[in-house]
Amino acid sequence: MKKQTIVITGVAGFLGSHLADTFLARGYRVVGVDNLSHGSLANLVEARRSPDFEFHELDVCELERFAKAAKGASYIAHLAAFKIPRYGKAIDTLLINSQGSHNALQIAVAEKAKFVLASTSDVYGKNPNIPFSEESDSIIGPSTVARWSYAASKLYDEHLALAFADAYGIPVNIVRIFGSYGPRQNVTWWGGPQSVFIGAILRGEEIPIHGDGKQTRSFTYVSDTVSGIAAMIEKGSSGEIFNIGSTEEISIAELATIIHRLSGSKVPLRLKFIPYDEIGGRRYEDVRRRVPDVSKAGRLLGFAAKVGLEEGLKRTIDWQRALYEAEVSLAGAR
Ligand SMILES: NC(=O)c1ccc[n+]([C@@H]2O[C@H](COP(=O)([O-])OP(=O)(O)OC[C@H]3O[C@@H](n4cnc5c(N)ncnc54)[C@H](O)[C@@H]3O)[C@@H](O)[C@H]2O)c1
Repeated sequence: MKKQTIVITGVAGFLGSHLADTFLARGYRVVGVDNLSHGSLANLVEARRSPDFEFHELDVCELERFAKAAKGASYIAHLAAFKIPRYGKAIDTLLINSQGSHNALQIAVAEKAKFVLASTSDVYGKNPNIPFSEESDSIIGPSTVARWSYAASKLYDEHLALAFADAYGIPVNIVRIFGSYGPRQNVTWWGGPQSVFIGAILRGEEIPIHGDGKQTRSFTYVSDTVSGIAAMIEKGSSGEIFNIGSTEEISIAELATIIHRLSGSKVPLRLKFIPYDEIGGRRYEDVRRRVPDVSKAGRLLGFAAKVGLEEGLKRTIDWQRALYEAEVSLAGAR
């Protein structure tokens, strides 16, 4: 029987590469596209061992090349995106996330493929009513604060995807991802606070905390995030939005303390609180609390996060330590 083809954009990134491994293991043909702006070929070492994997280095904003690579797709999982512009570059966030998604949707229509959009918990913005259900309101801050360009771009993508489903009848589902972490994450702020905290602890440095550190998040181990996304791709009908994440809430300062303890560092814990107006770029605003209601994903997809925070962090610290030690020994050999 001919294998079904899934196109994964952003395949060389953190989630895209794990999603590729998952679908290869499930017997699909995987066509991955990425412009390697933030992803890395090192994330694709496992996928590239499979004869069912094909990689195209291209920009999702180039419709023609993207459409050619995606020929024969039954599914398009659109993960390529620019995240929160912390240090400028809001233009990339806005243009790549809008043009790239428009192109991916046009290709899904041409191929009659099922379309899945990776959206974000950031679309709930400053909504104070916790936990967020998929029907909760989006309360986004002012346009003068550049960080909201990410939520705005993803909200635009969500509306565009649902409008395409209405107009062209393609199945479309949307996953709102809550802070995922694990091996292959980007080790800068791009990958999230846990990446930066682990790196600082391994180097024996102070841990930079934005604001007062009392803001909370729910961190989700990558295998749980990816199993939720994969379940939505295979089982989601159409026109649905799903929260995927852990419901374990933790403050950012507590996260730093736990990582420090789990790392076994001999250097005492030092937290460096950085006021938001010193972060750089335009004025910055943070979200105080962020916790998902995942009952819909549980009911319709069988989703439940399984890996506890400490277990997931231990695995991530081990991975990041190996990466760090390899870098140190390489620098020593030069
Ligand atoms: N990781 C999380 O916790 C999280 C949370 C919420 C939403 N998301 C969403 O999930 C998706 C994947 O996130 P991730 O954490 O794996 O990010 P990532 O940055 O590791 O992966 C994104 C990939 O997209 C690629 N890319 C960017 N612009 C591109 C372009 N113009 N053309 C082709 N490729 C391009 C990058 O090179 C990168 O490999 C994104 O859409 C992100 O917004 C992730």
